[in-house]
Amino acid sequence: MHQSAENETCAPAKSYPRKVVFSICAHIQQREMSPPEPVFVTPAGGGSEQSWMAGLLEHPGYDEERLRRVSEQLSCREVQAGLLLSLMGQPQQYCYPSLFIYGHRASGKSHVVNVFMKDLELPHVTVSCVECVSVALLFEKVLRSFFGCDAASLLPRSPSLSDFVRIYRQQSSQSPAKQTRYIVMEKAELLRDADVNLLPALLRLQELVKDNVSVILLSEIVWDKFRPNTGCFEPLLLHFPDYSKGELQQILSTDRHPSYSAEFYSSYINILLGVFYPVCRDLRELRHLAALNFSKFCEPVAAGKVKEMDTHKLWKNIEPHLKKAMQTVYLREVSSLQWEQMEEHESGALRGLSAHTHVELPYYSKFLLIAAYLASYNPARTDKRFFLKHHGKIRKTNFLKKNEKTSNHLLGPKPFPLDRLLAVFYSVVDSRVAPTASIFSQISSLVTLQLLTLVSHDDQLDTPKYKCAVSLDFISAISRTVNFDIVKYLYDFL
Ligand SMILES: Nc1ncnc2c1ncn2[C@@H]1O[C@H](COP(=O)(O)OP(=O)(O)OP(=O)(O)O)[C@@H](O)[C@H]1O
Ligand SMILES: [Mg+2]
Repeated sequence: MHQSAENETCAPAKSYPRKVVFSICAHIQQREMSPPEPVFVTPAGGGSEQSWMAGLLEHPGYDEERLRRVSEQLSCREVQAGLLLSLMGQPQQYCYPSLFIYGHRASGKSHVVNVFMKDLELPHVTVSCVECVSVALLFEKVLRSFFGCDAASLLPRSPSLSDFVRIYRQQSSQSPAKQTRYIVMEKAELLRDADVNLLPALLRLQELVKDNVSVILLSEIVWDKFRPNTGCFEPLLLHFPDYSKGELQQILSTDRHPSYSAEFYSSYINILLGVFYPVCRDLRELRHLAALNFSKFCEPVAAGKVKEMDTHKLWKNIEPHLKKAMQTVYLREVSSLQWEQMEEHESGALRGLSAHTHVELPYYSKFLLIAAYLASYNPARTDKRFFLKHHGKIRKTNFLKKNEKTSNHLLGPKPFPLDRLLAVFYSVVDSRVAPTASIFSQISSLVTLQLLTLVSHDDQLDTPKYKCAVSLDFISAISRTVNFDIVKYLYDFL
């Protein structure tokens, strides 16, 4: 079956671009001798390699001006863009049935493919496998983009793969492709969770629908992790390596601010990469960080204190801010506004601002959670010392048992009964709160949010027991928002 399929798919190769035919033929010869092996496409010499290196894309069948515009947008991806273009061949030629492009996050996979599709005005549809939660959505999107809404409406309610192939065939026989149609699948790794037939079918869709269509799969994962056990048509593989530091510098420097010179922005990026490159190589993240910190970098220049060229002084000024920003790399939890507020709190009280402050809880729920934390980590005997107003003088040594030297934080949270929680709650909350139903419902909300855990059986309605399930960092952040110094009330920190 494999053999016949290969023969069939070889048929349209008559009109593949020459370079691709070489690589396909080599691939097929190899496959006749051994089990299917993936074909890695690498720049294998040839006349046009120099032009790739020079950053210029050349290919018959495409408008030169458009190719020049495409080249301008694909800095540091010249080799991959050149390869992709030669694999795609001339627009009216058949392209290889499926291409698999892989590389780490933000390595420019989507960027390169999108620029090609848009700027060369190729007929295409980009499908995100995250968005298309069902195959029906995928089929509908493809049919709608290529043949219009009427074609998509021909799909039955829950369409099968064969429905899709049937309708596609029927439509493409009415309006055959004048140029290669591309289906770009973003986050293709999710296809592995879809129906088992879907991925093998997409890989040889060209053959199934008998149309000049090519599927481009984009993924962070290598092809070996995709290949179904039952075997399938092997796509051509194209790897996008990570950007080097120099390449990141080049790409990021293109975002320069209109009111500052290119050199000034470039020196800023140089400083930024010096700090962040060891911990973060994600272009998207670095771009976000660059935008976030640039105003701080310019401040002394805008105030007229420092000249644009005085890199040393600028570095001294920005360094502490960048170091602070290191703590939140990748989290994206600090919006620019929060960032400015954080800068104002130079004391560092809000250091390590994180997701904790984003948990919005009602006022009393915060105190309930604090009380729960205290009840979980303080021995019950010590409540008197912390929460009784006139407890007399009880020193830590007086109630420190010999075997109790281990930190309660190392032992983890202990369960406590509801009564104790409420007793601690009423003493930590300043104003008087009546024990209303709302307080009890807030406790059950905290359980639903998994900030508290119910440890007793459900049938023990009168004395339920809870454990606090949050960390010290979390509770410290919550306490700060209500001006409660929790450390003062923790037995471990006395
Ligand atoms: N060579 C480049 N020149 C300019 N911008 C680039 C380049 N490469 C990537 N970018 C930009 O970086 C961002 C991330 O790139 P892209 O979306 O292409 O990554 P990706 O490889 O598809 O990542 P993912 O696997 O997460 O989808 C985009 O905003 C893109 O415009
Ligand atoms: Mg992408």
